[in-house]
Parts: sequence; C-alpha cells; structure tokens
Amino acid sequence: MPDQWWRDAVVYQVYLRSFADGNGDGIGDLTGLRARLQYLAGLGIDAIWVNPWYPSPMVDGGYDVTDYRAIDPVFGTLAEAETLIQEAHRHGLRVLADIVPNHTSDRHPWFQAALAGGPGSLPRQRYIFRPGRGDDGHLPPNDWRSVFGSPAWTRVTEPDGHPGEWYLHLFSAEQPDLNWDHPEIRAEFESILRFWFDRGVDGFRIDVAHGLVKAPDLPDLGIDNEDILAPPDRPGHPHWDRDGVHEIYRGWRAVADAYPEPRVFVAEAWVESSGRLARYLQPGELHAAFAFDLLRAPWRAPWLRSAIEESLAAVASVGAPATWVLSNHDVVRHVSRYGRPQPDRPLQSLAEMLAEAPTDIDLGQRRARAAALLMLALPGSAYLYQGEELGLWEVEDLPEELLQDPVWERSGHRERGRDGARVPLPWSGDTPPFGFSPSTATAPPWLPQPEAWKRFTAAAQRGDPESMLELYRAALRIRRRHPALGDRTLRWLDAPPDMLAFARDPGFLCLVNLSTQPVPVPAGARVLLASSPLTAGRALPADAAAWLAWSAKPDEAA
Ligand code: NOJ
Ligand code: CA
Repeated sequence: MPDQWWRDAVVYQVYLRSFADGNGDGIGDLTGLRARLQYLAGLGIDAIWVNPWYPSPMVDGGYDVTDYRAIDPVFGTLAEAETLIQEAHRHGLRVLADIVPNHTSDRHPWFQAALAGGPGSLPRQRYIFRPGRGDDGHLPPNDWRSVFGSPAWTRVTEPDGHPGEWYLHLFSAEQPDLNWDHPEIRAEFESILRFWFDRGVDGFRIDVAHGLVKAPDLPDLGIDNEDILAPPDRPGHPHWDRDGVHEIYRGWRAVADAYPEPRVFVAEAWVESSGRLARYLQPGELHAAFAFDLLRAPWRAPWLRSAIEESLAAVASVGAPATWVLSNHDVVRHVSRYGRPQPDRPLQSLAEMLAEAPTDIDLGQRRARAAALLMLALPGSAYLYQGEELGLWEVEDLPEELLQDPVWERSGHRERGRDGARVPLPWSGDTPPFGFSPSTATAPPWLPQPEAWKRFTAAAQRGDPESMLELYRAALRIRRRHPALGDRTLRWLDAPPDMLAFARDPGFLCLVNLSTQPVPVPAGARVLLASSPLTAGRALPADAAAWLAWSAKPDEAA
C-alpha cells in the first residue's frame, strides 16, 4: 500500500495573491512562493494547498476561472507552475491545487458562447438558464439567494437586444453555475484533473463540493438568506449536499486512482452534520473533507469537545481521517474570533464573525496558541492558513474604497467581506510592505498591512522562543517525531467541564485550560511544549494548552 500521507499531513494554505510578491507589482505570485519554499519546509509542514491560480478576471479572488489549464499572468506561467511543483517536491512538500467545478467565470468561452447562442441553443445547456417569472419574465425563476447576497439569478440581454432568460449563480453574477447534468461538463472536469495530475499535482481541494447538483425543477426555498458558512437548513435542500454529487466524486476518485502515486481530494463542503460530511468520504469517494465544526465552535470546552467527538466518530464510520482547520481565506482569522466574548453556540455566518469587534488581540493570540496545540494533537490531518503561524489577526479597518471582496458590493455595503483575512503577509523589516514585495517594487501590496505587523514578521519571530512562529515550529517538530501523534484515535480523560484532556497512545497527553483559573499539571508528567509558561506552582494558566509526556496510567492524569 503506498504511503497514505494525507491521513496525518499538515497542509499549509497558500493564498497566492497575499503570500509573497516576486516581481514587485504588489500581488503575490509563483516566483514569490518559490522563493519561500525553504521557509515552508523549515516550518515542518507536509504539503501546500494553493488557492486558484488559473486565468481569471479576479472578481472573486480567482474563484471565477476562464481557463482551467493555464496560470493567470499575474501569478506566472504554466512552466513556472511546473517548476514550482518540482521544487516543492524536492523540499519534501506535496502540492494541492484548487479545483472550482461549481461555476466558471462569465468570461469563460463556454459562457460567452451560451450568451451568444441565445435561448434553446446547445451552449446554454452547459449552464442553468431559465425564463423569468411574472409579466414578460421580469422576475427571477425562483427565490434562491446568492451566497454573497442578492438574488442568485441575473437576466441576460439576448443577441437580439431584448431582455431574455436568467442564469443561476450561487455566488457572484460573474460566476455562472455549471449544469452538472450535462455529460460534457463531467468529461471536461475529469480531463482537467488529469491535466494537472500529469504535471505532478498531488491532489485538489474541491471548491463548493456540496453545490454541484441542483434539484431538477429548481423549487423555491422559501427563505431569504444564505451565507457562505450556513449549512443547508433542511434535508433535501434544492442546491446543497444533494445525493447526486457522490456519483461525480466516484468518477473523480477513479481518475486519481489510475496514478501510481496517491492523488487525493479534500472537499470544501458546508453540510448540515458530520454524518452528512462522512458520506463524501465513503470508500471509493473523496479522501478528506474539512471538519468546519471545529472552526465554527466558540472558545468553550463543551463546543470544542463535541465538534471533535462528532467529527472523529463520523470519519471513523467510513475509515477516513479527520481534517481540522481553524482559519482559511473565507472566515475571520481565529485570533480575532477568539479575542472577543464567546457565544454559547457555534458561529453561523461570516456576518456574525465580523460584527463582534472590538478585538482583544493579546487574548486572541493567547487562545490561538492554545488552539494550535489542541488542533495539532488531534488524530488526523490539519490545515494551516498562511499567517496563522505568525499570529496574524483580521484587519478590520481596511479603507472601504480598497475592499475587493464581492460580498461588500452585493450586500449593499452591509458586510465588509473577507478581505481582512487576506492582507499580504509580513516577512521582514519595520515598515510595509514588510518584505512582501522586493525593494524594487513598483506598487504597494494590493491590500495595506497594519503598521503593528512589524512585531509579527517572520524575521522578527524567528529564533524568539516565545513567538507564535517558534511555537508552530516546535509543535510540528514534535508532531512529526512522536509516535502517538498523527493518524488513529484519542482517549478523553476525566477533567473539569472547562478543560479538555485527552491521551494519545503511547505516552502523550494534551491539556487545554478553557477556565479562568490556572490548573495544576499532573505530577509525573513531563512538559513537551506549552502555549504559555506554566505558573511557579507548575499550573497551566487560563487559555493555555500543554503537551505532556506521560508514562504512568494516563487515566489517572487529569
Ligand atoms: C469557496 C471559496 O473558498 C470562496 O473563497 C469562494 O468565494 C467560493 N467558494 C466561491 O467559489
Ligand atoms: Ca507579483
């Protein structure tokens, strides 16, 4: 059996626009990423996931693709992507790309042909066009809402100059949904997968994996909002998590399995429960799927524990690994989420995450340190979002005129959107662009960096044992070597209600203190790593976590 590396891999998410700018135009690119592979290898990760790099008008950060077999010139060239893949492999890093099958850009040749072809034409069948309702079809075909706000339908002007049919877009109007009932779509995406596998890509993160199939009659939903984080509110939802998606992924799995070295898929699927998520991970389907319940849990022991327990039980039922994540490019960075009063329920929407300012960044970072040790001690694989290893927070005061996320416009300026999690990384130096761009740069970073980041550059943290960066490096070093960590299971230990305590066999304990008081560390346990210094009395402070080596019977520990 080839090495099932994805079962316990630590994968680092590279949001290319904001990672490192090689040519000085203020936008991250492949040259910048190649120059930082050494940094990534030194961090101790196993793989990178690169957000969409394809040619795109960039209405939605590249999730609006015009050509799935090329690289956008702002990022580089196809030849450079191939070089990157080879260089990453030489550094011992696998490379996951991002596939966007739910929708294309409205500039994609297929959609342009659909517009030009007119109603009833063959090219229209690749998308979801319908006549409108009401007099002269002036109302959308149904009541579905775009995830970014406003109706999920836009009316086109037909080639004869008259207002005509409407097309479906679950995201922005520039992202028309594909019709996955069309055999050509299925064949095309399998061919795109092969195109990248043939170039050495080790796998794909699947964008909106739960959205591809729609109920044929497109029934009304009867509710007036959706959100990127909102799971389907009912069984049989007409456009989320429909049974038909599984057949598509069985086809993809067959494509991947035809390669001698494992090629893997990780699903982005916001579904109603861990049980529903496990359906994507049945034998013969996908390898992994993000357990977003952990990301949505407040910093409270019962919610964290139930998110972990439910995910582990669900993946165990299908023999798949759990896939943990605390932040990504779509949500408020967890330093900011945790640096606020915590609700007593999971977060339901992006708007809710954004509404709760002001943030206590010190508190958020302290909890984020503990959260990192919690996540990296869990069975399964973990995804890090670029900058979390530096302790970066959500930039909540970006000037409105610079906001680029379509959420800002489509919500009628009620929601600022996701740009605050996408600010270019600070690498070195005391002033922006903090080494993000070379000194010869001709443009500032595409979003402005806070001055306060000068204390949080990679260079400032490197070698400082108290820094977030060194905490991550130490944790990843231990995780790589310790026989108890990575894949398999955990054992919960008895603990007070606002503590999490679990054992990983052999000989490893993780304690997380979510109470407001220090908690003594069990005598006889040796501290491998702690997110905050222990007190003089050898207690774990509030909002801290520790990894302990333990040779006695672990049940006696907590
Ligand atoms: C999920 C992606 O992560 C997000 O950034 C994007 O806006 C939507 N899918 C639409 O592709
Ligand atoms: Ca650039």
